[in-house]
Amino acid sequence: DKEEDLKSRPPVVTIMGHVDHGKTSLLDAIRKTSVTTGEAGGITQHIGAYQVATESGAVLSFLDTPGHAAFTSMRSRGAQVTDIVILVVSADDSVMPQTIEAIAHAKAAEVPMIVAINKCDKPDADPQKVRTELLQHEVIVEEFSGDVQDIEVSAITGQGLDDLLEAIALQAEILELKANPDRAAEGAVIEAQLDVGRGPVATVLIQKGTLKRGDIFVVGEQWGKVRALVNDKGERVDEAGPSVPVEVLGLNGTPEAGDVLNVVDTDAQAREIAEYRAHA
Ligand code: GTP
Ligand code: NA
Ligand code: MG
Repeated sequence: DKEEDLKSRPPVVTIMGHVDHGKTSLLDAIRKTSVTTGEAGGITQHIGAYQVATESGAVLSFLDTPGHAAFTSMRSRGAQVTDIVILVVSADDSVMPQTIEAIAHAKAAEVPMIVAINKCDKPDADPQKVRTELLQHEVIVEEFSGDVQDIEVSAITGQGLDDLLEAIALQAEILELKANPDRAAEGAVIEAQLDVGRGPVATVLIQKGTLKRGDIFVVGEQWGKVRALVNDKGERVDEAGPSVPVEVLGLNGTPEAGDVLNVVDTDAQAREIAEYRAHA
């Protein structure tokens, strides 16, 4: 893409951290809805993808992860979707095994990290212990003269959430993220499943271009023609541009998380590429 075709796009922010440290609750508090309560046993079964707008008007795209597994599998499949990692560490539990793994993934992906020290409402919260333990894993917060920002938050009381959003928006500004919205769409599958009523459904994060109703595409070993697009609020939309997560209907089969979606010109082309990949 030529420089003049590039336009600003929202950051894609991935929430990572140890199990039960409050990733979904934090995102939930940010969105002021209630995803956690609706989850089976409070365990995240899939990746959620949502967009929010901050009070100052910045748009941020968030990806929730069930631990680190999905992120790893997506990276190993070549889909680099994250611009900023939010490392959630519980102030009572402090650094745990999946915290350390999340740090390793963020470093390998070479994306900036912001630490959200969560559950600061708890009587036994010890945020200073978190900062000290992070030091042992070469995550050096500003207080220790490092360049990693940490913010004390609580998903329950809402403490620090505005500061967290501000920090993300500021970091995004520094990154100067851009994409060309006026080209054939390209995106990455965040999750996909076979829906009883709707057939195969994929949640796709658009990375370049704009995906439109009627577009013909190939995604991994599958192909399709966009029958409907559904946004993160469950509303049908006509198109989705860069950094927008959207449910895509009209697939011939169910792709895998991390598969790349590309819009092509004809059905024949899409079928041919998908078949070639399936037999490669
Ligand atoms: P997984 O997706 O299963 O890895 O968990 P998660 O990191 O998404 O954590 P989740 O949001 O499911 O929260 C786990 C538990 O911690 C729930 O019982 C939440 O109510 C609780 N919790 C989350 N954030 C806070 C907080 O800020 N303060 C307190 N007191 N409890 C919290
Ligand atoms: Na949980
Ligand atoms: Mg969760």
